[in-house]
Amino acid sequence: MVAPIDALAPAVQSALVAAFGEDVRGADPVVRPSQFADVQVNAAMALAKRLGRKPRDVADAIVEHLETGDLIASAEVSGPGFINVTFSDTWIAQQVQAAQADPRLGVATQPAEIIPIDYSAPNVAKEMHVGHLRTTIIGDSLARTLEHLGHTVIRQNHVGDWGTPFGMLVEHLLEVGEDSSEAHVVETDPNAFYQAARAKFDGSEDFATRARARVVRLQAGDPETLRLWGKLYDLSKVYFNRVYSTLGVTLTDADLAGESSYNEDLPGICADLEAKGIATMDDGALVVFLPGFTGREDKPVPLFIRKSDGGYGYGTTDLATVKHRVEDLHADRILYVVGVTQSLHLQMVYETARQAGYLPKDPAEVQVEHVKIGSVLGEDRKILKTRSGAPLRLMYLLDEAVQHARAYIDEARPELPEQERADIARMVGIGGVKYADLSVAHDSDYVFDLDRMLALTGNTGPYLQYATARLRSILRSAGVDPEAQDAPVLVTEPAERELALKLLDLDGVLAQVGAIYEPHRLCTYLFELAQTFSSFYEACPVLKADDEQTRASRLTLCALTLRTLVQGLDLLGVEAPERM
Ligand code: ARG
Repeated sequence: MVAPIDALAPAVQSALVAAFGEDVRGADPVVRPSQFADVQVNAAMALAKRLGRKPRDVADAIVEHLETGDLIASAEVSGPGFINVTFSDTWIAQQVQAAQADPRLGVATQPAEIIPIDYSAPNVAKEMHVGHLRTTIIGDSLARTLEHLGHTVIRQNHVGDWGTPFGMLVEHLLEVGEDSSEAHVVETDPNAFYQAARAKFDGSEDFATRARARVVRLQAGDPETLRLWGKLYDLSKVYFNRVYSTLGVTLTDADLAGESSYNEDLPGICADLEAKGIATMDDGALVVFLPGFTGREDKPVPLFIRKSDGGYGYGTTDLATVKHRVEDLHADRILYVVGVTQSLHLQMVYETARQAGYLPKDPAEVQVEHVKIGSVLGEDRKILKTRSGAPLRLMYLLDEAVQHARAYIDEARPELPEQERADIARMVGIGGVKYADLSVAHDSDYVFDLDRMLALTGNTGPYLQYATARLRSILRSAGVDPEAQDAPVLVTEPAERELALKLLDLDGVLAQVGAIYEPHRLCTYLFELAQTFSSFYEACPVLKADDEQTRASRLTLCALTLRTLVQGLDLLGVEAPERM
């Protein structure tokens, strides 16, 4: 599938070369939206001076040499040298039909690249909070989209599974007993376990001493300590997986690549950085100073590689992630879907990795990108907290969203079977939260507001889900299978044309999301498509169309609209119920 603009641009470029020779090869055709036609080509205005001709003459020459097959209905020079272009209805109709006949809906596959994506990354024996919600949902949508575009995505769940807190956590596990209910609470409420361990650590000097000794044994690889640590890890996996399955996120145990998996690489990295003169000793610690990275009063900010107590820094582990992803996974691009507050940290990691040769200096060779994730705020515009000030539990929010949706569907569709209502509530509640998260630019903050997220109007998940349910009901009444519908498309009414043009944008929008990592652009597109469909449905009767041909054509438009919405929502990780 090609959007008309994308078909037009190369044709204008060829016309330029045909009219003015090789000098203008590759010139920008300057295609812009127009009030008077579908688009305006302003290349003549841009090139006239360079060619030493009047813009109007250049425009005439372009039109004369324009070879676009059936694409264009009219191309007229106006004013000082604008070209107003109207696309042919037949061409548009054919493209729509081709998209409907294609299981990929006309979306091109790209040359496959290997793309590790670092996302979600909660911490073992700790609660996943709303901050983890965004990296999980946005990362998963990028994984789905890049995969759909033909890439090999390698999910990397960089869980926090190492470091000093594990001394205290392992000691607490020993005290309560591995198989006790206090241990199993990690599966449902890790915060309760963590807080209990913390209270002992703060309240008992004896416990604190044992916890510190336990860290040393953990780092030394003591088998019994490692076994207990593994137990905590397993309990946490139950918890993570429950959150992932509630959210409908594609992460599995196979994607776990936690901090601890890099342990063996760290001493070598330290030695290497020291040998290459990149890291230096500073007050007993091994650090990297990078030109341009300064903090307050222009004081250089160090990247800690090895602390004075021998422990490794968070940055060292991240250097190991870069090295692993480039050298072992053979990445073409690497995405870090991580909080915006870690921006400086990641920049320092990339820069150090480039100096050390872990990452090619030329970004064209391996592109590494921080997909910066903003915060979720409460109504007071501060980081979302419970009334008591504790971080808000993710599962609690999700349960609340589903209950909210359940109340709505019980009222709206009481006649539906109980199980179906429960399923719809789950899809709408979870889908609404996910969509709200995705529809905001990933680096800006947003206020968590369930009423807005679950509203049936506006740019929301439920609005789009409702649009798909309505389309399904139209197609059901007509006895049409959306996948199999292949009646020829006729584009005559303006509202049909609007809808058809919108449908042709899917390919371009997905390519853009895959290139600049902004799923909110897909949300905006789907929202606009649903609105365009609404206007079409108001202006153009479908089931009661005047003649059989028009009816069949409009059903094809409905079928492709439904499939496009469902495909788009799927790439966002949002399910669409059959009825709503
Ligand atoms: N576990 C960290 C946290 O909860 C996020 C890790 C992000 N990924 C990374 N490679 N640094 O904040």
